[in-house]
Amino acid sequence: MKNEFIDPWTSSMPEDYAKIVKKFGLQKFDEGDFPNGNTLMRRGFVFAGRDLKKISDCIKQKKPFYALTGIMPTTDKVHFGTKSIIDMMVYFQKQGADIYVLVADLESAATRGVDLKEAKKIALEVHIPCYIALGLDAKKTKFYFQSENSDVRNLAFELSNKATLNEYKAIYGNAEPARIMSSILQVADILHPQIKKKMPGIVPVGIDQDPHIRLSRDIAGRAKKFDFVLPSSINVKFLPSLSGSLKMSKSEGNSLYLLDSDEEIKKKVSKALTGGQKTKEEQGEKGGNPEKDMLFELFRQHLITDDKELEKREEDYQNGKILDSENKEFATKLLIKFMRDFRKKYKNY
Ligand code: TRP
Repeated sequence: MKNEFIDPWTSSMPEDYAKIVKKFGLQKFDEGDFPNGNTLMRRGFVFAGRDLKKISDCIKQKKPFYALTGIMPTTDKVHFGTKSIIDMMVYFQKQGADIYVLVADLESAATRGVDLKEAKKIALEVHIPCYIALGLDAKKTKFYFQSENSDVRNLAFELSNKATLNEYKAIYGNAEPARIMSSILQVADILHPQIKKKMPGIVPVGIDQDPHIRLSRDIAGRAKKFDFVLPSSINVKFLPSLSGSLKMSKSEGNSLYLLDSDEEIKKKVSKALTGGQKTKEEQGEKGGNPEKDMLFELFRQHLITDDKELEKREEDYQNGKILDSENKEFATKLLIKFMRDFRKKYKNY
């Protein structure tokens, strides 16, 4: 692995998920444990987690549990890949979980210098409506701002004496005050639903957030007074940008965003990295490789939910029946349709 440290503050992304599972001591995800699995679960994009059995037991036995995620209100754009996390939140909501979505405005202020008022504005105007348009049931979702939730802040202060600086450095690789404060606050975000009602909870995350999960579990185990259930996590693979890079960096040129216009979609898809050959003729003869094609990556993760349809398209691409130009046209069509439906839901909210 090129990047030894995967942490929430840099944007280096993994290339080999199997290695990560081993290295981080994660539990492999077993689809069979979770009823009614969604596309990402069925197709291996959900690959690991921590303490997953606690949650699958709650689902099967209809016992209370919660799922929680956070919004970083740093820009007014929402990366298309966010859909993966929300798909998981929607899944857990449908399986009976209490759902919490917080706006990490204090973390954004501390680590990215985002003004609290500005953060509030874009969270209310863009992020929260996007999350609802992706399928969360607004009436049954508890939204909050870190800066407005004194229970969470008080809990963060109280829990701060349950971690040491050395431990922090071992988990994150460094220790800056703004990051320490944000991490402890995130621990409080993750654990606070249990103050009212002791129950298992799960956090769907990209692997970059795993350090926060480890810290949360360490602190939860030590804060005996609260008698917390150690929080579970479930890991979803990243959606690469259309140019094939796994970096999540906002400056990365060819990333899709929710609310992208038809024109933006056309332009981005036209420049996508494909698994095609150098010329049409060659592709007709040898076929393309859907495994190395970013449009197929989009189809697999989000745009084609029917397994048979996906399989057929992959076969046709491999056999040279579908050329890149046709595939791009098709991807553009699907994306434009997705965005139009999405925009409608976003506006109606
Ligand atoms: N640190 C998260 C991010 O960078 C945001 C966040 C804050 C969060 N608190 C959380 C995510 C609790 C999950 C659970 O995106």
